[in-house]
Amino acid sequence: MLRTHTNGELRLEDKGKIVTLTGWVQKNRKMGGMTFIDMRDRYGVTQLVFNQEINPKLCEQANHLGREFVLQITGEVAERSNKNKNIATGDIEIIVSELKILNESLIPPFTIEEETDGGDDLRMKYRYLDLRRNSVRANLELRHKMAFETRRYLDKSGFLEVETPILIGSTPEGARDFVVPSRMNQGQFYALPQSPQTLKQLLMVSGFDRYFQIAKCFRDEDLRADRQPEFTQIDCEMAFVEQEDILQTFEGLIKHLFQFVKNIDFTEPFERMTWADAMKFYGSDKPDIRFNMRFVELKEAVSGRDFVVFDSAPYVGGICAKGAATYTRKQIDELTEFVKRPQTGAKGLVYICCENDGSFKSSIGKFYSQEDLQHISTLFNAEKGDLILILAGEKTQTQKALCELRLEMGNRLGLRNKNIFAPLWVVDFPLFEWDEETQRYYAMHHPFTSPKPEDIHLLDNNVGQVRANAYDMVVNGVELGGGSIRIHDSKLQNKMFELLGFTPEKAEAQFGFLMNAFRYGAPPHGGIAFGFDRLVSLFAGLDSIRDCIAFPKNNSGRDVMLDAPSAIDKEQLDELAIQLKIMNK
Ligand code: AMO
Repeated sequence: MLRTHTNGELRLEDKGKIVTLTGWVQKNRKMGGMTFIDMRDRYGVTQLVFNQEINPKLCEQANHLGREFVLQITGEVAERSNKNKNIATGDIEIIVSELKILNESLIPPFTIEEETDGGDDLRMKYRYLDLRRNSVRANLELRHKMAFETRRYLDKSGFLEVETPILIGSTPEGARDFVVPSRMNQGQFYALPQSPQTLKQLLMVSGFDRYFQIAKCFRDEDLRADRQPEFTQIDCEMAFVEQEDILQTFEGLIKHLFQFVKNIDFTEPFERMTWADAMKFYGSDKPDIRFNMRFVELKEAVSGRDFVVFDSAPYVGGICAKGAATYTRKQIDELTEFVKRPQTGAKGLVYICCENDGSFKSSIGKFYSQEDLQHISTLFNAEKGDLILILAGEKTQTQKALCELRLEMGNRLGLRNKNIFAPLWVVDFPLFEWDEETQRYYAMHHPFTSPKPEDIHLLDNNVGQVRANAYDMVVNGVELGGGSIRIHDSKLQNKMFELLGFTPEKAEAQFGFLMNAFRYGAPPHGGIAFGFDRLVSLFAGLDSIRDCIAFPKNNSGRDVMLDAPSAIDKEQLDELAIQLKIMNK
């Protein structure tokens, strides 16, 4: 090694030792006859000292060291007179006697410190410099630790890690595929896996029994803070199990990670909620249950008072914000603007303030007496000082808007603390989802998800009511993972394909391999996949999963550092027998 110690290692006990350190120049400052350099590596920062009087030549050399130069120094560990309590090595410094410049550096385009002056695009273009920053590096360290602990837990529970191919055919997860042209089979394309879904099911047919993989998945969908086109799953499958076995096993994994990585012990079982309740009380299949503020349905209680907005709306519902009755006119106007944004889509907002004197102030005071308002407030268990907020309109849309308003109020009232974790299983998802635009049913999870045995009879005449053996794990309003018990019977699977509008020929062409495998003794099986990037960013308290990915894509799906995607040479296209036709949008 070119060093005896790292920059995070030396303490007062090492005083008097002669050490050799390597690292990058973080800061260089001259004070009188002394030059101080903060030298950084992955492990920390150590202060180097050069003294003009003792070694003028060396000090002169040190004065010219620029930011991010790579150094090797030898010197003696000394006690610092001016100790720095903010860093682990803050009690010592190195009196440098030898200095070697291992490499020079151009002036970096932004400062490599906690609070950098680099904008997002610039940092992504020079991501290798951005990764030198403590916070970003710490996220990758956490990611490593979580992957390690995941493997440890699953290995101990008898799971085998099996790699599955990246160049495959289309996998149906509901997003668009990324495709790769084949040179050897001209005119044909591979698709990158949206997940290893069908392959892990085949491994169950092969008898692997307990499979997992920390797997790369690819989905060509619009990006958001919690979505990347290329992301990682902890992908798992088990044979000879029922839903309860899967919930127990993977609740165990998440508890293990909380305990070993965050030192948080969940001694109680995670809460469970049916999909129907999640929608009814939170307007979302991924409710944030760090705070209560459940929806109260009001249609019955508010009808028949000549208030046409409520009378004509199929759904009227509200939330009660504890202690928010002090909200000013301006704050309520802001909330009204918030719910009227196009993405939220409500027409307006009704409020009832539960005043401290026991009276009610409300935007619908003209239509509802104090007694009426009192009655409404009791439905919320509201107390003096609370603020009731009500929306009305078409059911699904209004519940969605109320969900956003609830989260906004949660933020405003400080109820969404990143250091509090509220895990939840959402269970009993519907098997199908109706799409208004195409006027047909889609699989809510994927076509291999098993209906609940007691609902199978509904497949013939009441498809929309069929519930699935499907479940999601949600923490703090983030969908961390999802899975299901699969169909292992080819007759039932064929029926599913039929209901989803596949002709037998199309089902055969797309999933023939799986249907065929199921004819050779498929065991009952089921599984789950966790979004690993989401899990890490939740543990790290990040706002975007990008910050825990070494080389992420930006919102347009570009890697600005590699400048990808990019055009390819004509020769490459010729080899693939591809002719480009650039279409005007
Ligand atoms: P699903 O599609 O629900 O299930 O995905 C599982 C989990 O993967 C994460 N995830 C994503 N993370 C980042 N960027 C994305 N674009 C993205 N898309 C999904 C989410 C999600 O909960 N094969 C099934 C699992 C199974 O049935 O076993 C599947 O992929 O955290």
